[in-house]
Amino acid sequence: MTARAKRASKAAQLPVGDVVELFAGVGGFRLGLEGKPEFWRAPGDEPGQWRVTWSNQWEPSTKTQHAFDCYAERFEDGTHCNEDIAQVSVDDIPEHQLLVGGFPCQDYSVAKPLNQAHGIQGRKGVLWWEIHRILEAKQPQFVMLENVDRLLKSPGSQRGRDFAIILATMSDLGYLVEWRVINAAEYGLPQRRRRVFIIGRKVDKAFASAGFDGFDWITSQGVLARAVPCTSPNGTAEHERDFVIEGEPHEVSEHFGAGRKLSQFLNAGVMLRREVWTRKVVADYDGPLSLLSSVLLPESEVPDEYFIAPERLGDIDSPKPGTWRYLKFSKSEQRTHKGSGTTYLYTEGGLPFPDPIDRAARTILTGEGGTAPSRFKHAIATSDGRFRRLTPVELERLNGFPDNWTEGMSDGKRAFCMGNALVVGVVERIGRVLADDLTAMKAAVPGK
Ligand SMILES: C[S@@+](CC[C@H](N)C(=O)[O-])C[C@H]1O[C@@H](n2cnc3c(N)ncnc32)[C@H](O)[C@@H]1O
Repeated sequence: MTARAKRASKAAQLPVGDVVELFAGVGGFRLGLEGKPEFWRAPGDEPGQWRVTWSNQWEPSTKTQHAFDCYAERFEDGTHCNEDIAQVSVDDIPEHQLLVGGFPCQDYSVAKPLNQAHGIQGRKGVLWWEIHRILEAKQPQFVMLENVDRLLKSPGSQRGRDFAIILATMSDLGYLVEWRVINAAEYGLPQRRRRVFIIGRKVDKAFASAGFDGFDWITSQGVLARAVPCTSPNGTAEHERDFVIEGEPHEVSEHFGAGRKLSQFLNAGVMLRREVWTRKVVADYDGPLSLLSSVLLPESEVPDEYFIAPERLGDIDSPKPGTWRYLKFSKSEQRTHKGSGTTYLYTEGGLPFPDPIDRAARTILTGEGGTAPSRFKHAIATSDGRFRRLTPVELERLNGFPDNWTEGMSDGKRAFCMGNALVVGVVERIGRVLADDLTAMKAAVPGK
């Protein structure tokens, strides 16, 4: 078959499966799975293999719904729902083969109190239990979740408890669950964004439980191993371990991680029927890398407001408090606590200033927008010796979104949406492997 015929035959079989996208923000998952909407495609941009048939996004803290509006405008098919997910009935969610979501990382935990030990739901408003409710009702073949890597060790008082509950409850619903902390830059993408990706795959009783080798799954057979290859330094207890998470969710909530300084979960792992294998892995990638310089607009196209006024930069040797250099440089100073009046020594390490453009960018945070000096916003040096912040288009490029995707909101909101979003290229890679697996499953069970 010629390459053209192959492409045509592949296109005819699309989409491979239907997706429901929760906590959709401005649509990072959808872009990675479905590809750009037609209007946004450049020549050579291929559609993705999945089709999002229903999505949900609701911002609890504001009346205006910028992320929802942006998503609904870009993907104009009317399947986007703007309601608190906790209020959505599962009857309104269509059947699907893949459930995805980057659920918000809140500081309240997913623990299940004893008084709800026999209830199906956990605490109201704790968004993990909303995902769980939908998984239980719809039982999609695959799940892909994304979150901050802190999830592996939260909360501080019981390291890894929240993650243990998530894994155990997914396992109880019949999922083989794998996870990996992925730094997008280590796979050739232009941002050093480190996030945990959690993949669930529904398995039946016959799934090779006797022959299952969790360590091998993590580095060679699993979805993540195939999508974003990795290797593992060979196995001391520090590098790999396996254990079982026992007990009802409320028991896991009470006991898991108690008294431990470190989480038992390493940066990669898999759980099958409550047995966990976890190992420390490193990226196995020797392709080209992307640098911050690759996303920069020509200076002539950067509006004046992104250039930092010299008086806000601060003196190199002794920058005044509140200036860029003061905030970025290391410090060790006596401070007084406002409430108690006690003095203490405040120390903080330095951050590179300006941000180097010959490596991948640091993680975009939600506070990246606005002209106020900040320790965490990116600031780069220009060819004529000035300093400037990154524009919304450059932030979109760092996440792999099309240029001007979030146009129409204030620049601060655009930056906020990009700080909340994800690196599309990572989802794209994982989505391709999931599509291959679903195709293989359908072929193995005719009629599915
Ligand atoms: C981490 S962001 C996900 C961003 C998304 N992956 C993207 O590419 O833009 C989480 C999103 O969940 C939304 N959210 C928070 N609480 C929600 C709720 N109760 N129901 C629905 N969406 C909610 C937030 O507004 C936010 O946009």
